[in-house]
Amino acid sequence: MVIPVDLGKNSYDITIEKGALSKAGEIFEVDRKVLIVTDDGVPEKYAEAAAAGYGQAVTAVIKAGEASKTPENFVELCRKMLEAGFSRKDCVVAVGGGVAGDMAGFAASCYMRGIDFYNIPTTLLSQVDSSVGGKTAVDLDGVKNIIGAFYQPKGVLIDPEVLRTLSPRQFACGAAEIIKMAACMDRKLFEQIERNGIAENPEIENIIADALRIKTRVVEEDEKEIGLRRVLNFGHTLGHGIETVTGLYHGECVALGMLPMCKNEPLRKRLEAVLKREGLPIGFSDGKGGLSGCCHGPDPEAVIAAAMHDKKAEGNTVVTVRLEDIGKFTFEAAGSEQLVKDYLEVFG
Ligand SMILES: NC(=O)c1ccc[n+]([C@@H]2O[C@H](COP(=O)([O-])OP(=O)(O)OC[C@H]3O[C@@H](n4cnc5c(N)ncnc54)[C@H](O)[C@@H]3O)[C@@H](O)[C@H]2O)c1
Repeated sequence: MVIPVDLGKNSYDITIEKGALSKAGEIFEVDRKVLIVTDDGVPEKYAEAAAAGYGQAVTAVIKAGEASKTPENFVELCRKMLEAGFSRKDCVVAVGGGVAGDMAGFAASCYMRGIDFYNIPTTLLSQVDSSVGGKTAVDLDGVKNIIGAFYQPKGVLIDPEVLRTLSPRQFACGAAEIIKMAACMDRKLFEQIERNGIAENPEIENIIADALRIKTRVVEEDEKEIGLRRVLNFGHTLGHGIETVTGLYHGECVALGMLPMCKNEPLRKRLEAVLKREGLPIGFSDGKGGLSGCCHGPDPEAVIAAAMHDKKAEGNTVVTVRLEDIGKFTFEAAGSEQLVKDYLEVFG
């Protein structure tokens, strides 16, 4: 299945196919040098399968985890290309989750002022979200994604088979992003998730494709995130604050962050039911104490202070995405006081 992303001269295709990993050489234009960027938590066989299609592959393996998304590692990737004599017609291929993808994409955007970039995302989150849309970045001094560029890939290759090796907790984090998109933009997909779930669904590639159609539509309308694309931040303002304070996984925090953004309780209950089914937290004392490590939840003031530090904060307010109904959202500016109130209403 191919989903085209229509961005004028920056257009590209997303190919979704079981077993596609070993066909990278057929699908991408690869008769040139390639830097494969992966991390040491991604099974080696994936990078090897992707590299097999290329004549001249150089592989860079970074340490798994967000802590690797550094300017130093970015320079290291550029240095590898320089040492291997990469020219402007060579390319970078990411084989991994959002960390490998964001780093590799940023290195591709800067090396010789921009060389071709291809993405082979291997986590559910990166398959449905981070591999598409052209956001690339590294972190600096603990501030996430603060140095980066909008730089579209030349192609994205999604092989759902690779999800078999992903831990259930990482899988659930990707599910949170799918639920986020469906809740705001696609009532039919949300209802399908209510019926069949995501993790248990044998037709996961169709769910991935549906989520990507939402993401693609949003990115095509607003490539640089000045309007509609901000809808993808649903759950992310409070989620970011919760993530900073608790250290829970990003998708888990997005799940929690979405709940206070529901305009009424029946809606929140619907959202809670689908999140819970995917193994995502819906509170801090829901019997999953192991997840948060605390039963009363983090201090609201600390969460909101961290949320307001997010780079999306404008002055004293942040733009939040509020869910009015499944498939219907609004943007609302909110200050700290409002956010504390929202948070306490659900978690207080
Ligand atoms: N660019 C964007 O638009 C965008 C959007 C959302 C998130 N992000 C970024 O994405 C990153 C998070 O991405 P992520 O959730 O994919 O995390 P990740 O890249 O850290 O991967 C999670 C873990 O899964 C392992 N892994 C990857 N594929 C695997 C597989 N198939 N089998 C077994 N293990 C596997 C990795 O080694 C890692 O340990 C963050 O840095 C975030 O800022 C970017």
